[in-house]
Amino acid sequence: MVPPFLEPMSSIEPVISPMQSNPPRDLSPYFRTLDDFPDGLNWQEIFGNDNPVELDIGCGRGLFTVSAAKAHPETNYVGIELDYKEGRRAAARLLRNDLKNARIVGGNAHDALRKWIAESSVAAAHVYFPDPWWKRKHRRRRIFTDEFADLLCRVVKPDGLIHSWTDVEEYFEVIRALMDHHDQFQPLTAPSERAPEHDMDYQTSFERKKRKLGCPIYRGLWRRK
Ligand SMILES: C[S@@+](CC[C@H](N)C(=O)[O-])C[C@H]1O[C@@H](n2cnc3c(N)ncnc32)[C@H](O)[C@@H]1O
Repeated sequence: MVPPFLEPMSSIEPVISPMQSNPPRDLSPYFRTLDDFPDGLNWQEIFGNDNPVELDIGCGRGLFTVSAAKAHPETNYVGIELDYKEGRRAAARLLRNDLKNARIVGGNAHDALRKWIAESSVAAAHVYFPDPWWKRKHRRRRIFTDEFADLLCRVVKPDGLIHSWTDVEEYFEVIRALMDHHDQFQPLTAPSERAPEHDMDYQTSFERKKRKLGCPIYRGLWRRK
């Protein structure tokens, strides 16, 4: 029997709102789920080009995905989100902004990185403000584990980048230890804090919320060797 602390992450099911009585609004192609891609995520088919692809893992409402897609039209962005309601909000923002270089995929990022995304097929992965799961008995639900670091290594190309920020110092130290000690990643100097130019000028919604509360933000950046 697998001990409970080794239970695979895929046992965490996507969150589908029980309140939805009407069929949800069709947000395709901006929102689709992993199950819509039985043959895996083929970037050329999804975007119709060979531009570099960056992942926003646990994208929430998609502030990073939307802003980055607007700022870098030559790069394709894919937000992966377990909570379909949040993922659909992010997709609605992409639709409103007519951003053809970004998509949201509903599902578990562990599954996506393990089975749906081809090896060495993404230029960067962003993991911003992963859920801290404060209670000790819930810590095993955290997304960043040594297996997750290996999965990032699997999908990110050599020289590709991993960005991870959080306001939780203890979790940041865990992430830093996993990444700094991984033989395939090299730590780089992370960007320092920058004053926002307007009210939505933050990397993500959680960065905005936490900085407005005055919390320090811990930023990490690594390069795949
Ligand atoms: C604290 S929120 C941060 C959202 C966003 N990155 C930000 O900084 O505003 C963490 C997000 O990660 C999502 N998440 C947690 N575990 C996940 C998993 N295994 N796969 C995909 N998304 C996940 C949650 O549903 C949630 O939306």
